[in-house]
Amino acid sequence: MTELIEITKPLKIGHERVCKCPQTHINCSNAKEWIQSQVAIWEFFYEKRDIRDKNIHPAVFPIGLPKKCIQLFTHQGELVLDPFVGIGTTLVAAFDLNRNAVGFDLKKEYVDFANKRVAQTKLDMWSEEPKNTTQIAVCDEAHNIPEYLEPETVALAVTSPPYANMLNRPRLNKSIRGDLRKNEHFLKVQQYSADPRDLGTMEPRKYAQVIGEIYKGILPLLKPKAHSIINVTDIWWKDDKFGRRIPVHVYIIEEMEKAGYELRNIIIWDRRNLVNKVGIFGWPSNYITLGTTFEYILDFWNPP
Ligand SMILES: C[S@@+](CC[C@H](N)C(=O)[O-])C[C@H]1O[C@@H](n2cnc3c(N)ncnc32)[C@H](O)[C@@H]1O
Repeated sequence: MTELIEITKPLKIGHERVCKCPQTHINCSNAKEWIQSQVAIWEFFYEKRDIRDKNIHPAVFPIGLPKKCIQLFTHQGELVLDPFVGIGTTLVAAFDLNRNAVGFDLKKEYVDFANKRVAQTKLDMWSEEPKNTTQIAVCDEAHNIPEYLEPETVALAVTSPPYANMLNRPRLNKSIRGDLRKNEHFLKVQQYSADPRDLGTMEPRKYAQVIGEIYKGILPLLKPKAHSIINVTDIWWKDDKFGRRIPVHVYIIEEMEKAGYELRNIIIWDRRNLVNKVGIFGWPSNYITLGTTFEYILDFWNPP
């Protein structure tokens, strides 16, 4: 069984491979699984354990997303980092795959939930095998991550940060049609917190700069050639009749490159299976694609 570890600086958490894969292999998969992973468009389905209640957290990704990244870029026993861990989806995925994992979040309520969620996951019937890895959420601001981890110990950083100040405006429920759109969340502002260090309070350029700063601090913690995945979407800003696309994913790529990372892959998360009866926007004169139908999964690495 895994145990909740004491929060120390640095943390005492495992990071060494426990599988018998050849040293040169980037992951534990076989050639067939590798071929399947080469497709640049990914789709995920929510499972029972996924938490979709927006009253618990307004923006949670499916367990399948970090799971796929962890399978692609780590071996059993290695250490996964999620700098913006929310309610711990990455930790659950890491537990399933027998990887050590640590996540950080500004908000204590989310961190407490994440740690309880991991504890519950260990008790669930899904976790049939005994595992000797640890998954933990720590309440701290992401700039402070280097205080907790030793250099060159992290095999993968995977996260979905806030999408700049996207949630800092009334929710329009664009992926839902008709009366269903006016559910309990309609027109509510669901930001994570009003803390000025919260990336969700920052306008997009400033936000991307701060992400760059945080990831500059994380770079020395990554093993050489370790990957760093950021799931993000662009923002549609409606400040006039036509609205404007804010290419947040481009800003992030620019800042990550300044911080010393190299972009390796851009993957599209095809979310059409999660979008429910979309309404009509922009017709007949202003063509805009629906942001809710896809997101970016940006894959960088610590260049050798
Ligand atoms: C999109 S959510 C992550 C959700 C997560 N993937 C999950 O499935 O639970 C982004 C998180 O970043 C946290 N956050 C925002 N700014 C932060 C900062 N400067 N340092 C640490 N966490 C921060 C927010 O509290 C929020 O929970």
